[in-house]
Amino acid sequence: MLDGKKNVLLAVTGSIAAYKAADIARGFIKKGYSVTVMLTANGAKFITPMTFETLTGSKCLVDTFDRNFKYEVEHISAAKACDLLLVAPASANVIGKIAGGIADDMVTTTILAVTAPKLIAPAMNTAMYDNPIVQDNMKKLKAYGYQFIDPAEGLLACGDTGRGKLADVEDILSVSQGILEETENETEKVSGTELSDLNKSEAGEAPDYAAEAGDAPDYAGRTVVVTAGPTQEAIDPVRYITNHSSGKMGYSLAEAAAKRGAKVVLISGPTALRVPENENISFVPVVSASDMAEAVFTHFEKADILIMAAAVADYTPKTVADQKIKKADGGMTIELARTTDILGTLKDRKREGQFICGFSMETENLLGNSRKKLVKKNLDMIAANSIVDPGAGFGHDTNKVTIIARDGEESLPLISKAETADRILDAIIKRVK
Ligand code: CTP
Repeated sequence: MLDGKKNVLLAVTGSIAAYKAADIARGFIKKGYSVTVMLTANGAKFITPMTFETLTGSKCLVDTFDRNFKYEVEHISAAKACDLLLVAPASANVIGKIAGGIADDMVTTTILAVTAPKLIAPAMNTAMYDNPIVQDNMKKLKAYGYQFIDPAEGLLACGDTGRGKLADVEDILSVSQGILEETENETEKVSGTELSDLNKSEAGEAPDYAAEAGDAPDYAGRTVVVTAGPTQEAIDPVRYITNHSSGKMGYSLAEAAAKRGAKVVLISGPTALRVPENENISFVPVVSASDMAEAVFTHFEKADILIMAAAVADYTPKTVADQKIKKADGGMTIELARTTDILGTLKDRKREGQFICGFSMETENLLGNSRKKLVKKNLDMIAANSIVDPGAGFGHDTNKVTIIARDGEESLPLISKAETADRILDAIIKRVK
């Protein structure tokens, strides 16, 4: 806490995305937080300390060989004063150093001394991000309580297209704010200034990061059918009706379930996402609500668990024109017919022991309407998905979901869709007979 305001310690590392850290710093200031920025020597090659000093009104701590300032005191007091440490963008190098306990510069030394919550927003080339060494380092840090906001997909500075782009600045700000608001009791501050003491007090028992929840094979032997993405309802050969679903939530669920040992069938409407390369995921592409219904009915028979994350169209054009419809004067009306309510139909096909989780997206009365759907569609669980909260819903890499089950409810904070997927799977597995 600084001057009565919660303080964010923003560590900026060497990445082309470093310029976005200026928007992050500005975003925190606008929201009423105080911000202290630390730059690694490589970070300082991409953006200058003066930019941050102008934006935050505070000295930017930079790794230099200049020892004119009180180095030891400065980094420890920054570590002690912060309510959240955010590393954004976080390079593979710095993630590796933190995971290895290396403290060879201002930024990594300070991070080791921070006891407040820590959030890391990686940004790097796709091949680097997918490298098992980097993945292992992140897994290790997660086991030590570090939180991550996954990078987005897109065109990267190196010209490649793929995962590795720094997450959306608004999403980073929303997740950070969620963490700062969740930390109700002020973070315990460390009293000593000896680094050895700080390390001792924080370390405790080393967690077994290989046995992290997301990796435990608690879904082994189970078949999980996941639907994802939108459907497209053809009007004529060139036009269709669809919705904004990106498929990210469903794909995250499929990947998380496969990681936890399940055999997964991912039934997906058209999305821009890469088909998961995982031998435990069978991919079933569909286009329309009627294709989706057929695929779900086929695969449901062998499923132990069905998760309907797809945004299935409720209406489809009554007739599909064979040829492109030519415009004419005046307006136009397209007559729509109801599609099959897939979940509504499954209640008659459900076997003893099968578990069904639906999704619900509303613009008003989210929880009330979702509870009604749980009952009406005879579901075991429904994930009520906010689309009004910033950073949640369509297209974002983060989500804010309330899990509604027959025996209780759990509101999840704004977290990455990957993390949301694991929390939903946790909630399902403890209820599956
Ligand atoms: N769903 C489905 N079949 C449809 C439409 C939706 O199985 N034809 C599933 C979705 O995959 C989701 C759940 O039903 O898991 C809730 O969808 P939603 O559209 O939010 O609810 P509806 O029942 O369509 O309610 P409303 O039209 O009142 O929003």
